[in-house]
Amino acid sequence: MEKYSIRGGKKLYGEVTISGAKNAAVAIIPATVLVDGPCRIENVPKISDVTSLLMIMRELGANVKLINDTTIEIDCSKIRSTKAPYELIRKIRASYYLIGSLLGRFHCAEVGMPGGCDFGVRPIDQHVKGFQSLGAKVDIKNGFIHCSAENGLTAANIYLDVVSVGATINIMLASVLANGQTVIENAAKEPHIVDVANFLNSMGADVKGAGTDVIKVRGVPTLKGGSYAIIPDQIEAGTYAAAVTAAGGDILIKNVIPKHLECITAKLAEMGAVIEEYDDSVRVKRDGPINRVNIKTLPYPGFPTDMHPQLVTALCVANGTSIITEGVWENRYRYVDELKRMGAKIQVDGKVAIVEGVEKLTGAPVRAWDLRAGAAMVIAGLIAHGVTEVEDIIYIERGYEDIVEKLTQLGADIKRVEYPDEEEVREAL
Ligand code: EPU
Repeated sequence: MEKYSIRGGKKLYGEVTISGAKNAAVAIIPATVLVDGPCRIENVPKISDVTSLLMIMRELGANVKLINDTTIEIDCSKIRSTKAPYELIRKIRASYYLIGSLLGRFHCAEVGMPGGCDFGVRPIDQHVKGFQSLGAKVDIKNGFIHCSAENGLTAANIYLDVVSVGATINIMLASVLANGQTVIENAAKEPHIVDVANFLNSMGADVKGAGTDVIKVRGVPTLKGGSYAIIPDQIEAGTYAAAVTAAGGDILIKNVIPKHLECITAKLAEMGAVIEEYDDSVRVKRDGPINRVNIKTLPYPGFPTDMHPQLVTALCVANGTSIITEGVWENRYRYVDELKRMGAKIQVDGKVAIVEGVEKLTGAPVRAWDLRAGAAMVIAGLIAHGVTEVEDIIYIERGYEDIVEKLTQLGADIKRVEYPDEEEVREAL
């Protein structure tokens, strides 16, 4: 087993290059099921969620080739199964995009119930409502979701009761080959939704309005292969911006779309960071004190829920008391107890956390409860006095490419160290 060992207190300086967006990649890879021919996808992040998905694609019969480090080619012309294996599926949330794409192409899908980070209840009722509106029969039994539409799918008007990234994308996937024009109202507007729509359009689909709350999908008979490059990861970029705001220093974050970062950098500027935007990079520096702020997470273009743990960590050492309100997930504060063990003063009441700034955090053994909570622990380690050891890094590496290497390049003192797991300890007794 491996953990990160971080000696805190170093400011960050230099340049970091952002990888392709995880949440776009994990939707675009399943979307290739809809395409009759090879899809070349560039700027694919090297993270374990992508590896797991590529293994699932191979199990289904797709021909998956790695062209280079960040480019893959997937050809789904010879898919032989519409049943996705449970063992692989349960590892990642985004496996549910296979339901929309298998249903869209073959009018039939059998996919294990998705796994992923645990933020309390994670319903998929809006996905199901969308598939049913398109004419599919949906059954959930024995841990699998069974969907079928013997007579094909027919376009529908679908109003989402909650703004859901997953349901918006899944309904787009299911409807691109359906008869007629599907309208998704109250759609999510995240940058990766636009990226999935752009991917589908570049393969011959007719999707309009992605990035607004009304998306119109006019069904086409087939999609043909082509090339597509995934957008940079908004949350990875935001995490490095939060890291330098917390630790102090001056870094250039390269390969970003600054517009996508505005909802994050606006808050960092309030906290005292100085932000300079260029065409495809952002410079973030922080020298003075960290100011207290209030944050409410909301669907895009609001402040992203996937960034609050990283900012809460920086606010642990701010001047004054900050109030954070989680507006998307039911329970995303499990990491707070880890920060408290490092000396943070945080009180959580339901969806609200009150963070009282303290002078310093002190290094401690902590665990990554989930992907973004794990990133928050790394940031806590960067600012703490002494050594912080972060366990369960498997969650962090699901979504951050080469995080140790990237932070080392910025001057952080972080390394991967091996430690025995329970079985090894028992064997040694
Ligand atoms: N919801 C429902 N019913 C549904 C679907 C969602 O009630 O059918 C609710 C959820 O319970 C939640 C809210 O709607 O309260 C938003 O959920 P959404 O469907 O938007 O989340 P998701 O698609 O499962 C994606 C990201 C998450 C990110 C959320 C919100 C992927 C693979 N995951 O999840 O990213 O937190 O959107 O922006 O795209 C991460 O990257 O660390 C991560 C967890």
